[in-house]
Amino acid sequence: MRVSHSSAALLLNSAFAVAQSTNGTGVTCPSTSKFTPISAGKFFDAINPGWNLGNTLDAVETEGSWNNPPVVASTFDDVKKAGFNGVRLPVTWAYHFTSQAPDWTVDEKWLQRVSDVVDMVTDRGLYAIVNVHHDSWTWADLTQASTNVTVVEERLAKLWFQIGTKLACKSEMVAFETINEIPGTTAEHGKVINRLNNIMLQAVNDAGGFNAQRVVTLVGAGEDGVKTTQWFERPDAKFKNPWGIQYHYYSPYDFIFQAWGKTTWGSDADKASLEADIAAVRGNFTDVPLIIGEWAASPVATETAARWRYFDFFLRTAAKYNTSTILWDNGADFLDRASHQWRDGVAIDIYRNAVQGVANALPDSTTDGSATSQQSSAYIYHKKGANVTDVALPFHFNGNTLKDISLTSSSTTANKSLTKDKDYTVSAETITFASPFLSTILTPPSKPQAPRKPNPHLLRRRPLTVTIIQYATPVLASTSSPLPANSSDLLIPITWAGQTRPAAVKAVKSDGGYLVDDWTQYLGPLQQGG
Ligand SMILES: *[C@@H]1O[C@H](CO)[C@@H](O)[C@H](O)[C@H]1NC(C)=O
Ligand SMILES: *[C@@H]1O[C@H](CO)[C@@H](O)[C@H](O)[C@H]1NC(C)=O
Ligand SMILES: *[C@@H]1O[C@H](CO)[C@@H](O)[C@H](O)[C@H]1NC(C)=O
Ligand SMILES: *[C@@H]1O[C@H](CO)[C@@H](O)[C@H](O)[C@H]1NC(C)=O
Ligand SMILES: *[C@@H]1O[C@H](CO)[C@@H](O)[C@H](O)[C@H]1NC(C)=O
Ligand SMILES: *[C@@H]1O[C@H](CO)[C@@H](O)[C@H](O)[C@H]1NC(C)=O
Ligand SMILES: *[C@@H]1O[C@H](CO)[C@@H](O)[C@H](O)[C@H]1NC(C)=O
Repeated sequence: MRVSHSSAALLLNSAFAVAQSTNGTGVTCPSTSKFTPISAGKFFDAINPGWNLGNTLDAVETEGSWNNPPVVASTFDDVKKAGFNGVRLPVTWAYHFTSQAPDWTVDEKWLQRVSDVVDMVTDRGLYAIVNVHHDSWTWADLTQASTNVTVVEERLAKLWFQIGTKLACKSEMVAFETINEIPGTTAEHGKVINRLNNIMLQAVNDAGGFNAQRVVTLVGAGEDGVKTTQWFERPDAKFKNPWGIQYHYYSPYDFIFQAWGKTTWGSDADKASLEADIAAVRGNFTDVPLIIGEWAASPVATETAARWRYFDFFLRTAAKYNTSTILWDNGADFLDRASHQWRDGVAIDIYRNAVQGVANALPDSTTDGSATSQQSSAYIYHKKGANVTDVALPFHFNGNTLKDISLTSSSTTANKSLTKDKDYTVSAETITFASPFLSTILTPPSKPQAPRKPNPHLLRRRPLTVTIIQYATPVLASTSSPLPANSSDLLIPITWAGQTRPAAVKAVKSDGGYLVDDWTQYLGPLQQGG
């Protein structure tokens, strides 16, 4: 009797499953939820260009712990208005488990919060990628001797089953990413990460709903392009999910992260190196949709003209190799979420143009690593007390024509149109600002002034800007010092003369040579003492 009872129960279960159009024990989506299958290539096209909600749901230990308050829906209005088509939502789960092995239960409130933020994104017609983020630092770091790979695999499976269950009925505008930048340095780690991609796929398929058809972005070690080319293997063919590869790009390191005084970018060698990196990933995966899920050149860390040139070249190169991009924004660099203002609107405009194949006009700037001084057509620097002279700034119009130039100021609301051949002249692709015009801004100031910005309208939506800065040399409490003790800092009190930021800092020894360290001794003059 028992036997027939349990087989009746089985039959009943399977009848239920067929009736509800679902597989196994997974989620059954209500008929009101919609899902139109999309290929990974179409998804990557559709989310391009994308924006990262950085340092928010990924903050350790929770949303609000870092520099951003909990996200509000209007942030995604700002993102959409700026021309972005999707949002990567990095999420750290490590501090939201309510039980340990074997269940690894995730707090339902946190799952609900993530689900709600996903809805804020897709309700605005923006695509979304959800991931497992700084868990890769905490419990999934494969390079730590203490990490038990079996436990990582079990935990990731339980975690993705719960995420997959919670998000099972989201539309095709939501994709998954196995794990963010999981550390891995060996081929063995590479194999583990290939297994983790399959484990994520199994878990979300088991979770049911629309997950069997959902786009997934799979990863290699560190989401590093080179390691991905070395060790990535395609997922098990039993999974039918559309998939592509996600990797991240922050190169060259010294320019992007302002290391060792590096403030220039854009030489032919710089461009060739960037293109070789992007081309190599495409060359290894000719038939796989590719997305660079994080990249940036932040206004906080990079010289303006070099940054604009980097944006333009990086984005055109990504497009050339059919690779979509998602800008990293930690909340302190691009979008000021509180004021709804983009800190570098020109860079965002360059982004939109480059993605659409529209050529950007760009300022010229020093790119030669052996140069002893640096020029940037994004700025006019004038030393207080010096005579005002004409200033010629070279640009790369790149097929654009100059429409007009107007002057904006933080202290006035009305923009003043400049008169061609009086306030400025144009010769080929050089704009010369005439000294009488510059004098109206620069003299006779009683003290150095705030930056003023003439805006050459060379771009389609947002003009390039040239920032005029008058400076004076600040006073240092001392101009010489014995070397500080090993591993201690040298502090020099400074009295600013207007602008409270240095244009350059140079450390020179008593013999006139630069104060190099064991690394900067090999770099160009601009970096040696700076
Ligand atoms: C159930 O899973 C099988 C194998 O993965 C698949 O072929 C089938 O379409 C699925 N059925 C439904 C209703 O999703
Ligand atoms: C770019 O990649 C997508 C997805 O892999 C593909 O559908 C499309 O044909 C590719 N476009 C070009 C120009 O190669
Ligand atoms: C790793 O974890 C598994 C599963 O909990 C356990 O069986 C195994 O003993 C652990 N290995 C080590 C080396 O601790
Ligand atoms: C594959 O990637 C490697 C870098 O890991 C690169 O050297 C190689 O040229 C790439 N292959 C192709 C065909 O692009
Ligand atoms: C500034 O211009 C005046 C008049 O042309 C000239 O006499 C003076 O030498 C100049 N000063 C400097 C520092 O160039
Ligand atoms: C002045 O120009 C800036 C930059 O183009 C623009 O954002 C601003 O709205 C303009 N101000 C006025 C009053 O037109
Ligand atoms: C300073 O510290 C480094 C690294 O700890 C050491 O190699 C070097 O010899 C030290 N230099 C001096 C002057 O003590």
